[in-house]
Amino acid sequence: MTRKQPMGGRPKAKKGTLGRVLRFVTRYYRPALIVVIVCLVISAIVNSVGGLFTNRITELIEEGLGVYYVYGPNTALAQIMPQVLKTVLTLAAVYLTGLICNFTWTRIMASVTQGTLRNMRNTMFEKMQTLPIKYFDTHPHGDTMSHYTNDIETLRQLISQSIPSLISSGMILISLVFIMLYFSVWLALVVFAGACLMLFVTKTIGGRSARYFIRQQRSLGHEEGYVEEMMTGQKVVKVFCHEDACKKEFDEINEQLFRDAESANRFANILMPILGNIGNLLYVLVVFIGGALVIGADIPNLSLSGKALDIAVLIPFMGMTRQFCMNINQASQHVNSIAMALAGASRIFDLLDEEPEADEGYVTLVNAAYNKKGELVESDKHTSTWAWKHPHEDGTVTYTLLQGDVRFTDVDFGYVPEKTVLHNISLYAEPGQKVAFVGSTGAGKTTITNLINRFYDIADGKVRYDGININKIKKADLRRSLGVILQETNLFTGTVMENIRYGRLDASDEEVYAAAQLANAHDFITRLPDGYNTMLTGNGANLSQGQRQLISIARAAVADPPVMIMDEATSSIDTRTEALVQQGMDGLMCGRTVFVIAHRLSTVRNSDVIMVLEHGRIIERGSHDDLIAKHGKYYQLYTGAFELD
Ligand SMILES: Nc1ncnc2c1ncn2[C@@H]1O[C@H](COP(=O)(O)OP(=O)(O)OP(=O)(O)O)[C@@H](O)[C@H]1O
Ligand SMILES: [Mg+2]
Repeated sequence: MTRKQPMGGRPKAKKGTLGRVLRFVTRYYRPALIVVIVCLVISAIVNSVGGLFTNRITELIEEGLGVYYVYGPNTALAQIMPQVLKTVLTLAAVYLTGLICNFTWTRIMASVTQGTLRNMRNTMFEKMQTLPIKYFDTHPHGDTMSHYTNDIETLRQLISQSIPSLISSGMILISLVFIMLYFSVWLALVVFAGACLMLFVTKTIGGRSARYFIRQQRSLGHEEGYVEEMMTGQKVVKVFCHEDACKKEFDEINEQLFRDAESANRFANILMPILGNIGNLLYVLVVFIGGALVIGADIPNLSLSGKALDIAVLIPFMGMTRQFCMNINQASQHVNSIAMALAGASRIFDLLDEEPEADEGYVTLVNAAYNKKGELVESDKHTSTWAWKHPHEDGTVTYTLLQGDVRFTDVDFGYVPEKTVLHNISLYAEPGQKVAFVGSTGAGKTTITNLINRFYDIADGKVRYDGININKIKKADLRRSLGVILQETNLFTGTVMENIRYGRLDASDEEVYAAAQLANAHDFITRLPDGYNTMLTGNGANLSQGQRQLISIARAAVADPPVMIMDEATSSIDTRTEALVQQGMDGLMCGRTVFVIAHRLSTVRNSDVIMVLEHGRIIERGSHDDLIAKHGKYYQLYTGAFELD
């Protein structure tokens, strides 16, 4: 099996990604960031003025030496010491301010960073809830999960370290430029030439790694997706003795990740020594030229300040050259993590930019009651009568009783435009009717129910619900009116009680018990170690398949919806339990419109109408007796199933 990487990203981070990250951070933390910037500016100034003090102290020492030769040590000390002390104390005060500023900004940034990551995760999760089912059908789940882990992680470094350091280094460099120019134009020019070379190297090498960081993030997502899939499919892997094949496949994916990560970091790692060496050479050059300027008496004064280049200038200048190179080196290190963060951020923004599930519906579901005149009106109480609230353009509102009348007219549909799955489907379910779909696997039974709850939208035709085009109904309200038992059961981590209550969060304990009794789940639940408080984990792995289904039936029952959709709801239950569930279901179905899909024909036998589907078309319809009498497909399916039983 060859596995393709989930592509969908670009080889380069989108333009404007950095700006978007910055806007995201500033949206929530503007005042805090202003404080951070002020602190950064102060600490940058503090960091770059050290040279001025060195210069002053060197001058004082020179002066002191002059006094020493003429008047002796005592006079020299008495004259110079107070000034040296004053300068040193000022320097200490300046550095202390720098220390406080550094502490303040790093402390604030720690909160800002973690807060931003929390906000980003929230935003992503909120966005994920708005995405259509199609998104999850077409994206590997592990890859989506890796947005919450790997991709987010790249932002941490960016926000907490890289951006502040870049700002700080930038400020220090700017201040140093001015101070150096003030001291000596020629020496400053030598340093700037070296700096240009360093920037050029950074751009060339840094640009290369950016591309590999994108690949690295993508490979990480791919690997996470693979691990996730193998974990959920662990039993299948073991049953088919696929452990070795899995290992091999994982090795390939892991190797790819290694190659991408290595390429990304190789460039990053060679950058530092190269820049370090250029910095050292520059230092030597400055010492050499500076030394020549100090010693050579006949060299004209080339300093902007008008002072001759003396040792009191050269010494701090040497320090500043070191500092200058160090800051460029530091900034270039962050270019690396910025490239990585942009790769991660770009993938996160891809998720955030996904088209949300469109909902142009404006008809809502409300509690209703009849007033004295016998008109249906909205009620703020919890009545068990529901109505569709339909606002009109002229400002009037009409209420339609929710009855559960569902009609399909000439519906065509395909999951992808190239392949039509349902052809020309017309059907109706009158309030309180039980409509069954039967047909061979892949015929399109589940697809029809996907259209009723609008997991997907139809390509052509109309679906009406109580006479209202379902496109006009708000999706959440539409789904609230439907109780769905899906083909695959999904239980969440939590107690049995919580899982049943998922159907309606405000259901009381008694209502939960009643629903469980209706679904005939109560008995087995009370036999569980902790009864209703038994914890379910890993999609209810500690229950049998049939028990899981009973819980999901109870979950739908507690919602007490007017329309029920049951997809294969009884497929994993033994015949005796099935009969029990059937009884419960009959109670649950009473007075509701129900769509049932079942492979067991005994389940659908007592339906009001049975639709036989084949290749996305309804080929037969009628009651059980009609269809048996017809001797068509249903007859074949039914008798076949009968024989098998
Ligand atoms: N998410 C999807 N994306 C693309 N095609 C799909 C998707 N789900 C189903 N199909 C296709 O639609 C067709 C009908 O599938 P559907 O799930 O409705 O069958 P079904 O009648 O419920 O079958 P079964 O009895 O096995 O549950 C199948 O050919 C299937 O390949
Ligand atoms: Mg199905």
